[in-house]
Amino acid sequence: MKRITLSKPGGLDQLQLSETPEPGQPGPGEIRVRVRASSLNFHDYAVVVGAIPTEDNRIPMADGAGTVEAVGEGVTEFKSGDNVVSTFFPQWLNGPAPIDNFSTTPGDGEDGYARELVVRAANWFTHAPKGYSHAEAATLTTAGLTAWRALVVNGGLKAGDTVLTLGTGGVSIFALQFAKMMGATVISTSSSDDKLARLRELGADRTINYKTTSAWGAKVQELTNGEGVDHVIEVGGPGTLPESIDAVRIGGHISLIGVLTGREGEVPTAKLMAKQARLQGLIVGSRAHQQEMIRAIEANDMHPILDRSFGLEDIADAFRHEESGRHFGKICLESDEKQE
Ligand SMILES: NC(=O)c1ccc[n+]([C@@H]2O[C@H](COP(=O)([O-])OP(=O)(O)OC[C@H]3O[C@@H](n4cnc5c(N)ncnc54)[C@H](OP(=O)(O)O)[C@@H]3O)[C@@H](O)[C@H]2O)c1
Repeated sequence: MKRITLSKPGGLDQLQLSETPEPGQPGPGEIRVRVRASSLNFHDYAVVVGAIPTEDNRIPMADGAGTVEAVGEGVTEFKSGDNVVSTFFPQWLNGPAPIDNFSTTPGDGEDGYARELVVRAANWFTHAPKGYSHAEAATLTTAGLTAWRALVVNGGLKAGDTVLTLGTGGVSIFALQFAKMMGATVISTSSSDDKLARLRELGADRTINYKTTSAWGAKVQELTNGEGVDHVIEVGGPGTLPESIDAVRIGGHISLIGVLTGREGEVPTAKLMAKQARLQGLIVGSRAHQQEMIRAIEANDMHPILDRSFGLEDIADAFRHEESGRHFGKICLESDEKQE
């Protein structure tokens, strides 16, 4: 089977395609999955360029979707032919988060899904949404579930709430879609007027160009008649958090998700305190959260926005495309074979 490995110290030129023997039949409690698709996240990018150090010859990619080929003894949840999607924290099945690192995350602390076949414990996967392509399913593991947890699990989003999304990365577009699906009003930002037009097509009620309107927190206050938003999808980190605190309403909720502007910085703590806002850090979610999200997706026939797909052998080009920032929606890797 084909697989991609990453040699130390990382870098797009250190991604190598190779042939390796196929894994054997699944043991008790395991399933064998033909991986048909993966999707790119900022975290995968950080791993492949070496910004997050990992083991030599690591197989990258946290997200994987495909078809069950065989099930081991005792597996009742899946059968051969089922379409499945991987989970980000294979050992976090339900309940509160038990982990604060990526030591068990496929494509980082464990081998990931840039390969054609994998044998894994059945609970490393859930069923994929009915009616989804493998590429669509592969977008859910990281970006989809992060947005879902931020808004629904932690945020308790309800119809009529107002949500602010930052930029047009995978998490932010999912947040826009989930927020609209659940009856919220959405304000979205981007550095590109073209992308802002596409956000409005997806249902964004108001849009702001964060390059030309640097005080976008004040603009959000203006657009909400001085009230601010109920939820902020904060993917920027230190460079955007002060504006997000300006934008949130008194008693609102900021999901601290991303580090696009850096890993450390100053926080206007007095302003956060005065806003009496809840600043909640999070990393993706549990297997149970993923199942709840998929139930909601199926009930609403919601589909993710896909940008374009690359073959496994073109993984470096896929990451160059992500690096360029020209994409809108998820970039995927797909195997050649068509979905049955
Ligand atoms: N905590 C978690 O569980 C979790 C899960 C997934 C991702 N993340 C983190 O969330 C962040 C986004 O991840 P992703 O995979 O969605 O990334 P991505 O798809 O690579 O997002 C790239 C987009 O982010 C936007 N962006 C960049 N700098 C920005 C800024 N200063 N202000 C507003 N938007 C900005 C840009 O949008 P425009 O082109 O429209 O300007 C850019 O196209 C990353 O830091 C990632 O590590 C965290």
